[in-house]
Amino acid sequence: MAPNFPLNTHFEELLKNIQPPVARIKTAQRLPRLVRDYIKASQTFLTITPHTRLAGSYAQNMVVGEVKDVDTLVRVSGNPETNEPEAKQLIRDLKGLLDGLPAYLGYEGYAETQIEVERARRSIHVYFKDEDFHLDFVPCIAPDGFKNLLYVPDRDFNEWIASHPIGYITLLNKLNKKYGKKVKPLGKLLKHFRNHQMKNRKPKSYWLGALLLYHVQTGNLNMDACLGVLFRDLLDEIHYQYDHLLWTSDTATPNIPDPVLNHNISWNWSRTHFKTFMSRIDEGRQWATEALDAGDRDEAITYWQKIFGEEYFPSEVETVVSNLANAACPGKSLVSSTGLILPSQPASGLYTTTQPTKFHGIEQV
Ligand SMILES: Nc1ncnc2c1ncn2[C@@H]1O[C@H](COP(=O)(O)OP(=O)(O)OP(=O)(O)O)[C@@H](O)[C@H]1O
Ligand SMILES: [Mg+2]
Repeated sequence: MAPNFPLNTHFEELLKNIQPPVARIKTAQRLPRLVRDYIKASQTFLTITPHTRLAGSYAQNMVVGEVKDVDTLVRVSGNPETNEPEAKQLIRDLKGLLDGLPAYLGYEGYAETQIEVERARRSIHVYFKDEDFHLDFVPCIAPDGFKNLLYVPDRDFNEWIASHPIGYITLLNKLNKKYGKKVKPLGKLLKHFRNHQMKNRKPKSYWLGALLLYHVQTGNLNMDACLGVLFRDLLDEIHYQYDHLLWTSDTATPNIPDPVLNHNISWNWSRTHFKTFMSRIDEGRQWATEALDAGDRDEAITYWQKIFGEEYFPSEVETVVSNLANAACPGKSLVSSTGLILPSQPASGLYTTTQPTKFHGIEQV
């Protein structure tokens, strides 16, 4: 049943409000480029053409809020089957290279401490403290180039693991196009919901992305519905998919399949973290249902603000029909009789004004 108040223009504002600030996008464009040039030029740590490639949420155009990190693949030669080079050692070698980054960038003395370089499970993490910006460099053996199946190191198991990051991006883009450009906005809402409702025990973004693509592909979601309905239905689907694990077992957690390779990507999800996530999902889907069933507009808005935060979901918006509003819920026009309602600020004063520029900072190489 179509909701009384689809609030399409509100959702459009919400999506703008969760876009990264322009200054962060500029930093996301500038910093990785510096490090990528440094890696490419190295004569000691050898990489193969085209050397590096952006991956992760930044390359997917799926960033919400501050840009948390920018992920970059670094292509090296090797044979994953024989563990050559040794996965553990390769991470160590890349760390050795990146330890030279502060000096290369001209940071000296105390300034050197402004760049932290750390080993992670499958990457080297570079933190620019002065700009509060994180970069992840993931080495990979890509026998047929970045666009195909590749292998990333697992430090703990000292082996190379199959992964298909660009296949994921291609699939996401394909589905987004097929379903009226609603898949990415829906995914961003899910990520923002997680960020807003969970301060810790957060599930990984990649798991959320995989859940999203799974439900879009199974056809469980009516992709013609407006974003509010889609969001509620997605939470419902996740709830019904995994709810039984909560009461049939004391230890079980979901096996979320990789959208491209199909293997279980959530094997390290702890039971307590999973339970917390399921509680937030259950709450969210109930509030969303209240919002969709609300008999008056303000009540609907109040519930959506509970879900997404009143600093993000506006109380009032200019109700001029836009492309997204039309695409989000065809047939439900939102033009008021006057054509315009002036925006007002919510009582809390937490309202963030719309970002003037839309996020479009993606370099594809
Ligand atoms: N368990 C996994 N299995 C396979 N690939 C993964 C896994 N976790 C992460 N990745 C790959 O690494 C990329 C970067 O992971 P990261 O945790 O930074 O998530 P993200 O999608 O960039 O989201 P964000 O950084 O906004 O939280 C993912 O987009 C995905 O391609
Ligand atoms: Mg990332």
